[in-house]
Amino acid sequence: MTVLPAADAPIPIFTTLQELYGSLTIAAKHAGRWDKLVREFETKFGHKPTYVARAPGRVNSHDAGEHIDYAHFGVFPAAIEHDILIACAPRPASTATAHPDHHPPGSVVAENLQTRYTRQVFTPTRRHTLGDDVPPDAVRVAPWHLDIDKSELRWESYVKAGYYGVLNHFFSPSSTCPVPVPVDILVTGTVPPGSGLSSSAAMVVSSTLAFLAANGIFDGENAPTKGELVNIAMENERRVGVNSGGMDQSASVIALPGSALYVSFVPSLHAEPIVLPRNAVFVCANRCVQSARIVSNKAESAKHQYNLRVVETLGAARVPLKSSQPPILARKSGFHRDEQDAPREDLAQLRKGLEDILEGNVLDFLLSKVEGRTSITLEEMIEMSGMDEVQFREVYLSWVDVETTHFELYLRAKHVFEEALRVLQFREVCLGGGDDEESKLQTLGKLMNDSHESCNKQFDCSHPKVNDLVQVARNFGEVDTGRGKGRVYGSRVTGAGWGGCIVSLVHREDVDAFIVHVEKGYASYEGMSDEDLAGWVFATEPGMGACVFRCTD
Ligand code: GLA
Repeated sequence: MTVLPAADAPIPIFTTLQELYGSLTIAAKHAGRWDKLVREFETKFGHKPTYVARAPGRVNSHDAGEHIDYAHFGVFPAAIEHDILIACAPRPASTATAHPDHHPPGSVVAENLQTRYTRQVFTPTRRHTLGDDVPPDAVRVAPWHLDIDKSELRWESYVKAGYYGVLNHFFSPSSTCPVPVPVDILVTGTVPPGSGLSSSAAMVVSSTLAFLAANGIFDGENAPTKGELVNIAMENERRVGVNSGGMDQSASVIALPGSALYVSFVPSLHAEPIVLPRNAVFVCANRCVQSARIVSNKAESAKHQYNLRVVETLGAARVPLKSSQPPILARKSGFHRDEQDAPREDLAQLRKGLEDILEGNVLDFLLSKVEGRTSITLEEMIEMSGMDEVQFREVYLSWVDVETTHFELYLRAKHVFEEALRVLQFREVCLGGGDDEESKLQTLGKLMNDSHESCNKQFDCSHPKVNDLVQVARNFGEVDTGRGKGRVYGSRVTGAGWGGCIVSLVHREDVDAFIVHVEKGYASYEGMSDEDLAGWVFATEPGMGACVFRCTD
């Protein structure tokens, strides 16, 4: 039997929740939500859903690995149990007569189980233009278009972003091609928005899958592999304004139960499931700012946070090289599957390269020449890059919105190289057979703590309340659990940062005591009900990636 590399496998289709969650207990826990979604779909639309698309959030639990995916260094995420579900079905002709306005080809009626997100109706258009290079009476059909307002992010923007990729990849802009069917969808989810657990990737991946399924492109020969779905979802997510790397989408799509994924991007997307030490449990705790909207901080503040970091990181990669093709700039528009036959990246060589850079203080020249500051101005950066201004703007700024007067190349680069090295070390510890379990956990925990310090001080993507929460979590190490001191090995911010969640590595036997300790110790949790707290602080085991559930009567 040939075992497909994880990224080349097909997206699974399930017909039972037990198969989908890989465990009867977890299936039983979620059955109520699924039933409710299917029932409400029928109530709202007058017909049954044919599929439910599911995509989980991710925790960059098992690492090190923050803010290095867009520089195409490997990362180490896993999927969590929390997910987005989208029930969908082609709108039957019988309901078309009842609502004639809702039935142009490809039209969508999108509902959300959360009542604050109101019903949305939209239809993609194809912009017909006269072509210059074709006979004057010919009409060229341009790509599909959906309006996504980046200045005011709305819940349906993520649905539209997913749909965009389906339209433009599977309904070619030729008049002879089949047109998409009208679709009804109902969304529900448990990934807290703006929490650093990838609610946006889960929304976009599940929306992409829902439109594929409703259009019957799912299990035929055109069906995308997991890796192809990752590429489409990344491209889609950029439509909502964040130039994210591929970590979240890879975890949400490719993850397998019981393993974290070592995801590498060079020379093409590759995912290696890696089993974690037996007693390692990752516990997420949210710094707890209730968001009234689905919009994540990452999207809203991208200009001076996330997208700015992308430019700083790529600028820092460019400057030392003074050549026209900086290797870690790589491909900003996705991974090229045609390179999949190229040899895999040599990780021992990569590790040696990173160590040489860090030990040799190679990055020092990125420091500002101005006494007392590390950052440089745009003019200084252009000058250091060896490019002229027009060229520089085209390569680094034309495709991304940023707002700043200064760029911190030195600190960002140092974080990226150190963090990339930590990921490799993390992977090696998990794979290594030699050490005993306890010392493995300690080494992993130290890597996580170091990662947090670097995110906080060098990458400036933590937040004072996140730091408080990290401290509370680490203090568990001083608590007497009756079995000795609390075994928390490390604690760090996860995801894009600037708020959101922390993740802590805790010994399996101490998880319950750890959760109680954090719930009691962090001031913002005071007075909350047990039910609310369960949504803010929870243990997570690596779960299944995206899939489609086929509804049967
Ligand atoms: C966000 C992005 C990811 C990654 C993380 C930071 O979640 O979507 O691509 O860059 O931030 O590690």
